[in-house]
Amino acid sequence: MKKALFTPLILAGSLVTSGLAVAETPKNAASAPAEMQQMMKTYKPELRQKVMALSPELKATIQKLHASHPRRAKETTLRQVMHEILSEYQAIASALATDNAEQASDAARRLAFHRIPKGGLLAYFPLDKVNDSDLAVLPAMNAAVEGSALKLADAADAGDMPRAASYMSDIMTGCVACHQKFRGTPGISANLMTPLGK
Ligand code: HEC
Repeated sequence: MKKALFTPLILAGSLVTSGLAVAETPKNAASAPAEMQQMMKTYKPELRQKVMALSPELKATIQKLHASHPRRAKETTLRQVMHEILSEYQAIASALATDNAEQASDAARRLAFHRIPKGGLLAYFPLDKVNDSDLAVLPAMNAAVEGSALKLADAADAGDMPRAASYMSDIMTGCVACHQKFRGTPGISANLMTPLGK
């Protein structure tokens, strides 16, 4: 796995998380882009406040991330979307292994243009991560996962399967970095004396 991207992401995460208190006044609400305002109506007050307190720049970034994914889920949750993404990743691996350029590029584009889950991404992030400093890493993760998937698709379209294959680790580096920051331990049990924790 490439360390080049991973390390700065982790660093960015650990350096900025706790110390910086983001001003959490709802004054930025009106400046939220239209789609985000719609999504906010579906949020409980706690999350809505956190989202309203984001800087206009960060709101614009999130809006851009949403807008670059034209497909919208009606009911699908982030976890379900993630499982779709994992299926696409596995489909790409299968296509690369069998020298199927068309399958590889189709699956990579489906991965890159995955559905936005019901309520948008932020609804599924831990509340304490919904702030300017933590969310600032999102574009880097998007570039690693979706940018690399699109490069993979282009390489496959050009018939360059070795180059296409080389992007698999860049994609997975982005998955792992985002999970380290925004996902807890998957499937922990409430019935263990010593539950796993991150
Ligand atoms: C923008 C950040 C982000 C990126 C990038 C990302 N994930 Fe996730 N992923 C999450 C979050 C947050 C969850 C937890 C969602 C929940 O449980 O509601 C999650 C959960 C999952 C799950 C569900 C099961 C589990 O372990 O919790 C799978 C499978 C998964 N991701 C696969 C992937 C794959 C494969 C990639 C890369 C191709 C990827 N993810 C990229 C944020 C991300």
